[in-house]
Amino acid sequence: MSDSFQSIPGTFDILPHTQSTSADTVASTHAWQYVEETIRRVMHRHGVHEIRTPILEPTALIARGIGQLTDIVSKEMFAFERGSTQYVLRPEVTAPVMRAYLQHHLAQLGGVQRLYYIGPCFRAERPQKGRYRQFHQFGTEYIGADDARADAETILLAVDIYRELGLTDFTVRLNSLGTAASRTAYRTALQAYLRPLAGQLSETSRERLESNPLRILDTKSEAERGLLEGAPIMLDFIDEESAGHYGDVKKHLTAAGLAFEEDPFLVRGLDYYTRTAFEIDSPVLGAQTTLAGGGRYDLLAGEIGSKQDVPAVGFAAGMERLFLALESAGIELPKAGVPDVFVVTLGERAGDYAFPLMRAWRRAGLSTVYDLKGRSMKAQMREANRQEARCVVILGDAELDAGTAQLKHMDTGEQQSVALDDLTGILKTAYVPTPE
Ligand code: HAM
Repeated sequence: MSDSFQSIPGTFDILPHTQSTSADTVASTHAWQYVEETIRRVMHRHGVHEIRTPILEPTALIARGIGQLTDIVSKEMFAFERGSTQYVLRPEVTAPVMRAYLQHHLAQLGGVQRLYYIGPCFRAERPQKGRYRQFHQFGTEYIGADDARADAETILLAVDIYRELGLTDFTVRLNSLGTAASRTAYRTALQAYLRPLAGQLSETSRERLESNPLRILDTKSEAERGLLEGAPIMLDFIDEESAGHYGDVKKHLTAAGLAFEEDPFLVRGLDYYTRTAFEIDSPVLGAQTTLAGGGRYDLLAGEIGSKQDVPAVGFAAGMERLFLALESAGIELPKAGVPDVFVVTLGERAGDYAFPLMRAWRRAGLSTVYDLKGRSMKAQMREANRQEARCVVILGDAELDAGTAQLKHMDTGEQQSVALDDLTGILKTAYVPTPE
């Protein structure tokens, strides 16, 4: 048996130099930073502020918030106990954000809280491409908002982020789940329709028929989809107010020029939704087609202890699935930045001389690197080339004695001898970007 450790299946190391999304890693840290910056920029344009909540949450918050009978709570939680406290690694961020909103009385600030997050979530699912045990979500929650423009804006926000990254091949599906009462009425009607067909359902769907029949609508099986063709439609059960709200959401999306599909079988896997539900799918993702999902959750605050109802709507999107989609679409993401200066030193004296000098250059804004292994000049030059350094400063005993250094500009290949006293000034002029 090998002594070496491996990352847990379904989790990843994110490395500086990875080019592709593989079974071992998901894009490079530079690609992550670029995507995160894009997300932050689009959020900022919408007046959405970042919130950071703990990875650890009370298990009861998640169980009550998301729903005991959901797959997430019944099968997929990383939950444990220490002393008398039950902890869970958060499987999503909506319930934690609502908890924070209530805990810190953010309602008192007045208006709608527009919040966003980027961070890890944990679900004990069977790992496969696009489905992991530790994955990352970015998302937004508009809390305190009843207005249908908030629903439309959350969808458009996700769409804007994808478009800003160059991703255009996706589909927005939309539905309304009405109120809790209309959902109960629909649930009863769906059960009545499906019970006589139970013999033709899969084992999982048969189980769901009594516990959570709406989830059957989510089935991927062609045979079951066929059975559902004559099933009752949720929209026929929703109350007038929800229908009006749904109409308004569609009106705003249309006014924004967004094409969407109405999907009467879209139900989502978390129980807190009321009214608007939506998903964004990418055809390139294979089995895990959903890039993002969300909707309105007006009852969540009440479920987790608020005396007042707090209307809210939001979405969350998988970072890893986004990288898979970007890769399939052939969209190139930034790689590591290159150093401005690579310092090649020969001998201890030159190394010692260069050390404080490099510190000054770094403070001046120059990305300055050097070889820490005392390798040959040839090896150091090779490393400077590999790192695509913009220039190389060469310092040896002979140069020090003469009070000079060799400066090689890598774009032109031009090499000059420069007085040590002038070196910092020359580097600054040539390589520190001037503010616009
Ligand atoms: P969700 O549909 O459970 O919704 O997750 C949102 C997105 O997270 C999915 O569309 C997918 O891209 C990504 N995702 C989920 N599970 C995994 C996994 N195991 N591996 C990789 N990616 C995954 C929510 O979490 C809700 N909180 C969304 C929301 C926000 N609703 C209102 N506000």
